[in-house]
Amino acid sequence: MNIFNNIGSDSINNKRLIVILFLTIFAVSLFGLTKTYESRLISKNNIEVMTNYGLFKNVLGFKKENRERYIRYYEKNQNLNHEDIVTHVNIGLDYGFYNYIRNCDISKDILILVNKYSKLDKNYVPNDLEEINSKYFIYGNQNKRMLKKEAKNAFERLSEASIKNRTPVYGQSAYRSYESQDILYKNEVKNDGSEKADSDVARPGHSEHQTGLTIDVSSNKTGNMLDFQNTDSFKWMQNNAYKYGFILRYPRGKESVHGYIYESWHYRYVGIKVARDMHDNYSNLTFDEYYYRFIEK
Ligand code: DAL
Ligand code: ZN
Repeated sequence: MNIFNNIGSDSINNKRLIVILFLTIFAVSLFGLTKTYESRLISKNNIEVMTNYGLFKNVLGFKKENRERYIRYYEKNQNLNHEDIVTHVNIGLDYGFYNYIRNCDISKDILILVNKYSKLDKNYVPNDLEEINSKYFIYGNQNKRMLKKEAKNAFERLSEASIKNRTPVYGQSAYRSYESQDILYKNEVKNDGSEKADSDVARPGHSEHQTGLTIDVSSNKTGNMLDFQNTDSFKWMQNNAYKYGFILRYPRGKESVHGYIYESWHYRYVGIKVARDMHDNYSNLTFDEYYYRFIEK
């Protein structure tokens, strides 16, 4: 009888063991499955990165789907603060220029973002282009003398005020179609090679000039844009452009963000509210950065 009892308790013990084993395997798998992204990072002994992930979460414009990119970008750019990391990744800088291209959100209207990552359709033509009065423009080329109505009216007011102040600001290239940008870009590549072309001229679809919200200016009728930064007209623009809704789009020191050489002559209409906010509170940001912090959502 004892023998049978022992046999019986052995088999019960075995069953217990199997159940315990099964439960252990189940618990371990469940734990593995339910582990959060953060705890996986901790298990890699990457507590410093973890802490930073926590900080990214509180940054304006944070996107959950970009979290791994924030961490990878941070690991390569530890000199940048968390806000810059989030903003740069949202722009697409971690991929490099022209490597992460999305369609522009044209519903943003005068706040549309066009850059090396945001592209306009080949057929996109602003719906209300108007010709700028020749009094405020240098070249007679009608094709390049147009802006969207709101921007055109604002530019005429700006130019008028600058002339009255004896620091004249004239337009010299405004709306450019996809095709004319294509010709311009190809000519640059032919003359200077693609690297130089990419730092001076946008590829077709990537130029703000196609929005009808952008204008290149000059202080005199010879139209030398490169000299503009040394003129009183430029100083006047630095202090007054925002009052008419215009911003300097490609500032010095931010080449790695906007992707072009410093262009003291290229102004973008964003409306007075945003232009003033950028001038007063965010003069260290390019429009790309401002867009992903305050406009995109
Ligand atoms: N020069 C500016 C970047 C353009 O081509 O739109
Ligand atoms: Zn321009």
